[in-house]
Amino acid sequence: MWINPGIWPRASRLNSHIILIGMMGSGKTTVGRELSHLTQLPFMDTDQALEKQLGKTVAQIFETEGEAAWRTYEATLCQSMREIPPHIIATGGGIVLTPENGRILREIGTVFWLQASLDTHLQRLALDTDRPLLPSQNKAEKLIALSKARQPLYQACAHHIIQTDGLAPAQIATQILATQKGS
Ligand code: S3P
Repeated sequence: MWINPGIWPRASRLNSHIILIGMMGSGKTTVGRELSHLTQLPFMDTDQALEKQLGKTVAQIFETEGEAAWRTYEATLCQSMREIPPHIIATGGGIVLTPENGRILREIGTVFWLQASLDTHLQRLALDTDRPLLPSQNKAEKLIALSKARQPLYQACAHHIIQTDGLAPAQIATQILATQKGS
């Protein structure tokens, strides 16, 4: 049987998670799906996993239970990620706000921080109305403030930083896999 050695670390060669962190609109979910396609590893989006588990949207959870409850759900999910086989994991932008989450993520996988300029974020989030921490007014100001507060937390959690401006999801995924292979 002919086996394509490939340039990507196939599932058999990846023994831990590839984890994407970064601000809302940094492309974690789209790039994560692309990575999953390339590596054949299963994909998990922490927002979607919690929405499915709780039977509510993120916005509904924020509205009815508040942000603190959301952070508790995220932390419980993070703990459970220790027990699952290697996945591609796209995280919610605020996952690093719980310090223990940052430590867990670094320990259980290779963490990539997807960075982009404010303009890129704003373009990607222009039509978004689903994110409770990003009301439609003053999106730029809100993003700047959140980003400033979170940068040290992303920095402390990330093994690698990927600049995504001007790159298509497939190009970003390719860069992540090349970095993963070389590390
Ligand atoms: C949040 C980001 C969202 C979601 C929730 C809170 C944040 O995920 O978890 O709205 O605090 O930045 P995305 O980064 O996938 O938008």
